[in-house]
Amino acid sequence: MNKTVLVSGGAGFIGSHVTVELIAAGYDVVVADNMSNCDMTCFEGVKKITERDDIPFIEADFCKAGDADMVFSSRKIDAVIHFAAFKAVGESVAKPLMYYKNNLESFMNVIEAALSHGCTNILFSSSATVYGEPDSVPVTEQSPRKQATSPYGNTKKMCEDILQDCVKASKGSLNGILLRYFNPVGAHPSALIGELPRGVPNNLVPFVTQTAIGKREVLSLFGHDYPTPDGTCLRDFIDIVDLAKAHVFAVRRMLDGKMESGCEIYNIGTGHPLSVLEIVEAFEKVIGIKLNRRFVPRREGDVTAIWCDPTLANEKLGWKAERSLEETLASAWAWEKHLAGQC
Ligand code: UD1
Repeated sequence: MNKTVLVSGGAGFIGSHVTVELIAAGYDVVVADNMSNCDMTCFEGVKKITERDDIPFIEADFCKAGDADMVFSSRKIDAVIHFAAFKAVGESVAKPLMYYKNNLESFMNVIEAALSHGCTNILFSSSATVYGEPDSVPVTEQSPRKQATSPYGNTKKMCEDILQDCVKASKGSLNGILLRYFNPVGAHPSALIGELPRGVPNNLVPFVTQTAIGKREVLSLFGHDYPTPDGTCLRDFIDIVDLAKAHVFAVRRMLDGKMESGCEIYNIGTGHPLSVLEIVEAFEKVIGIKLNRRFVPRREGDVTAIWCDPTLANEKLGWKAERSLEETLASAWAWEKHLAGQC
């Protein structure tokens, strides 16, 4: 019998790509989402890509303990991947309580319901934000976590701690994995699922594609005076399909009893830094259009340079980033055109 994986927040950008890869790998998937930050576009896309009309979808708000219990009561869940969380850095600064309540309560409810229903494999979607402004790059999983620059970042750190403490308290019965994502970009090659930012995008690549399609007049590049080769920030842009596949390897490791410690942590990135200017120029090359763009002052809270050493994920999970930057950017563009009804 196939093992069943619950994807909380599975109708969103990362969750929908992970659902596709889990199904491709032979897992049964239950998707649960409260639809607070997305519509059914991506879930419908997942059904088309997988040619599966029968993927169970449960509308559930994990901030309600009763909803979490209802989801775990619906069938036997072998592992859960927890995405359901708010993720806008700026909004979290303006509305910290909303972030702490939502992101912490929902995760605690998921852990509690999982444990009470005998599900002992929990994967948490964490972020490179926990490293703050690193002392040295690339960062490894041993690099110190830093003071978070936003309540959003703080919730990632706190959720990491919560899972680690629960694993410790379980005395060997609970497996936890923390995946720390760098900058996820791109879309599925089918252009049927991708990122659907609400309102003005905060992240670079959605802003770039929206400028290219004419939805935004001008792309602002934040800061041209950083101590980097071209003066713009350096990031580790990881393709969304590659990132999604890392989850399959991680879940398999838990379900196959391969864990070497109760809670394992992996950086999920390429290991190759790219500057903001480099990625914008690479995009312009892929689509053959020069964007209307300008340099503006630095954005508050941005770190100068961060990229990871993905060796641990490469060796222990057997995972490696594979898609080329050109494929990734072309897929982001195809998705933007799909949204605009152009393909
Ligand atoms: C942010 C979050 C990270 C989260 C990620 C999701 C922090 C500090 N960062 O990363 O936790 O996982 O989003 O993808 O919490 N830029 C522009 N113009 C724009 C938009 C961005 O120049 O219109 C620049 C930014 O200044 C930055 C780079 O592009 O240097 C990447 O920005 P962004 O896509 O927002 O990601 P991060 O801030 O790195």
